[in-house]
Amino acid sequence: MELKADVLIIGSGIAGLFAAIKISEFADVILVTKKEKNESNTNYAQGGIAAVISGDDSFEKHITDTLVAGAGLCNEESVRGLVSDGPACINELINMGTRFTLEADRLHLLREGGHSKNRIVHARDLTGKEVERALIDRVNSIPNILLLENCFAIDLITEHNLQKYKHSPINSRHCWGAYVHNSLTNQVKKIISKVTILATGGVGQVYLHTTNPAIATGDGLAMAYRAGAKVGNLEFIQFHPTALYQDLTGSSKHSFLISEAVRGFGGILKNNNGEEFMNKYDQRRELAPRDIVARAIDNELKKRGDDFVLLDVTHKSADQIIEHFPNIYNHCLTQNIDITRQPIPVVPAAHYVCGGIVVDNNGRTSLDGLLAIGEVALTGVHGANRLASNSLLEAVVYARRAAEYLRGSIGERIYSKYEIPDWDDKGTLTADEKILITHSQKELKQLMWDYVGIVRSDLRLLFASRRVHNLFTEVEEFYKKTKIFDSLLELRNLVTCSYLIIKCAQLRKESRGLHYTIDYPVQNETAKDIIIQNTYQRS
Ligand code: FAD
Ligand code: SIN
Repeated sequence: MELKADVLIIGSGIAGLFAAIKISEFADVILVTKKEKNESNTNYAQGGIAAVISGDDSFEKHITDTLVAGAGLCNEESVRGLVSDGPACINELINMGTRFTLEADRLHLLREGGHSKNRIVHARDLTGKEVERALIDRVNSIPNILLLENCFAIDLITEHNLQKYKHSPINSRHCWGAYVHNSLTNQVKKIISKVTILATGGVGQVYLHTTNPAIATGDGLAMAYRAGAKVGNLEFIQFHPTALYQDLTGSSKHSFLISEAVRGFGGILKNNNGEEFMNKYDQRRELAPRDIVARAIDNELKKRGDDFVLLDVTHKSADQIIEHFPNIYNHCLTQNIDITRQPIPVVPAAHYVCGGIVVDNNGRTSLDGLLAIGEVALTGVHGANRLASNSLLEAVVYARRAAEYLRGSIGERIYSKYEIPDWDDKGTLTADEKILITHSQKELKQLMWDYVGIVRSDLRLLFASRRVHNLFTEVEEFYKKTKIFDSLLELRNLVTCSYLIIKCAQLRKESRGLHYTIDYPVQNETAKDIIIQNTYQRS
């Protein structure tokens, strides 16, 4: 089975949808997404999108805040581009139908950790849901975008799929589309394209505790690495300081986020004795950047042996709490917590990956014909720690740039001149051992949480790498003899992403931003990116 389009986009979060809308102005698009179309990290985003809107703010202030959070590793030119494109991107989202919260006809602006000004554009505390609604409505109205749900991209198509060219050098490879598994029909299609864009989001599901929904299994990162694209800086996993503490015996695969905007609104962190503690760690207290607040909470928990700390907004007006945070208020009520009267039990949870597939300013990866945008990409704007609400901004800025780059260059691009083989699953059998998948996934998530979490050491990383190596061997063996299904594909990708996170962490012999190791507690004088590439020849 074969489908063909000028551009194949994988992922229907903010990056994929925005790019599809812009690219449809000059090319045909197929957009595949592995679950329902709105299921994405974007859909859960609460706080909002950072942009310089108010008269008392400036590009220089937003740039400085981003560079400070990034701990010396941001690419300053990329940050300047990100910030200066911000206001135009907000306008485009509004023109595409997004309804942000207003105050007296102007955009209402929130403040979050690490920001020196109020600059977070938002739709109450449901920003992501509103953005997804607006962009999906727009995509549905465009005839030359074919949106396919329940279509799981398995692997990118490159020279390695062609018998005759499979040993071509890694640095001169092309991407000609992807093999995609339809989870409802169980068929694998090849989708052939002139250009493929990965917009597959993050890797949070690698960890036991995460704010990321079940789709965040690092598929795009793993596919790109397997195909030979350069990836990097994956040690920088951002742990959000305040996820709602919950009993993990339930069926939910992710923790509910208590937005940083709650701290921006005046929320105070306290230990279980009701004592404030952030003043001991940073003069910016609750509004210090995330790495500092998450480590402070981790330290308090370890020191006291507690399961959670408390985030208290009970000193604020109940009406205002409910007005600003209706989603958080209602969700906590379902857990029998009235946040207007009771402090909220919170813990840190894996939230965002700052590293990713290495791209240039137009989203181009090291493979010809492959672009990457959104959380899956390493653009250089976040450095060693992302500033709050810069992620949705980055996704739109780079989706817009990728579209502009293609507007000028798609005419020169061609489909593969070689015949691409169909998916070949001869000799594989239907799995009757799914317990191997569920067990391995639990083991991996616990391992990554315990050994590759907020605080790391050489020994923990060594133990983690040995266990991940064993899991890799077992999963590859299972993959080669089994008819594919989604959770097997996800486990395979999670194992690859874990390997990459650990590898990058082992290579960074310093503590910087989100990567803290007790063996190298100080920052090196020179900042450098850690870039890795898969050089083995696939069969
Ligand atoms: P996503 O929105 O994650 O979309 C990825 C898409 O790819 C999904 O549709 C997924 O199903 C699809 N996909 C993945 N793998 C495959 C595959 N193999 N085949 C087919 N489809 C696939 N950032 C901010 O800037 N501000 C915030 O307020 C904010 N709040 C957040 C709150 C939460 C709870 C979370 C989890 C994140 C938050 N973030 C926030 C981060 C931000 O939401 C994400 O970084 C951003 O939404 C990523 O967008 P994306 O388009 O790159 O990926
Ligand atoms: C939040 O609302 O705290 C999330 C913001 C972000 O991840 O940028």
